[in-house]
Amino acid sequence: MQDTANIAVLVSGGGTNLQAILDASAKGDIPHGQVCVVISDRSDAYALERARKSGIPAFEINKKACSSQKVFEEKLTECLSEHGTDMIVLAGFLSILTADFTARYKRRIINIHPSLIPSFCGAGYYGLRVHEAALSRGVKVTGATVHYVNEIPDGGEIIAQKAVDVLPGDTPEVLQRRVMEQAEWILLPKCVEYVCQEIVRQ
Ligand code: GRF
Repeated sequence: MQDTANIAVLVSGGGTNLQAILDASAKGDIPHGQVCVVISDRSDAYALERARKSGIPAFEINKKACSSQKVFEEKLTECLSEHGTDMIVLAGFLSILTADFTARYKRRIINIHPSLIPSFCGAGYYGLRVHEAALSRGVKVTGATVHYVNEIPDGGEIIAQKAVDVLPGDTPEVLQRRVMEQAEWILLPKCVEYVCQEIVRQ
């Protein structure tokens, strides 16, 4: 039985959720796992810098440079295997993964989504759009969800959710920041540790 799980974090942007995982890990809050690799699907992701600053191997697999989804997923798989990946965290990763890929990591891929699923989720709901939709619908509570990943965008089994108040005068940017601070950065490291524990107990 292995003691810890190797975690790969897939990113596309700023990487504040990656940072939350790295900080939690440094504090000893993820005893059953360690981040072994960070992969971005685009070159300008600041998350790559964050990984390198923490001494984590960081790679770009540029989706646009791949001739097909199949080639993209093959490159991803190769990099993940090279680093002995046991579980994958999608932390602001914007590329869609097919059933072919997700089936190979059943209950070993998790994603963080900045709303209370099933609200404001699925195809087209990413980044600020999620918070714009929540504000235009007039909800008074939103939040974040961590779920297992299958081939349906934001459709896998829910692991944990955390609610956050919407306040009068919120803009999408203000709401996004509150959801990150009060929900995402707390919830994601906890769920990473939970899934790592499940893996090492198998
Ligand atoms: C977060 O809001 C996350 O919930 C969503 O994409 C955003 C990524 O932000 N999936 P960051 O790159 O972690 O700062």
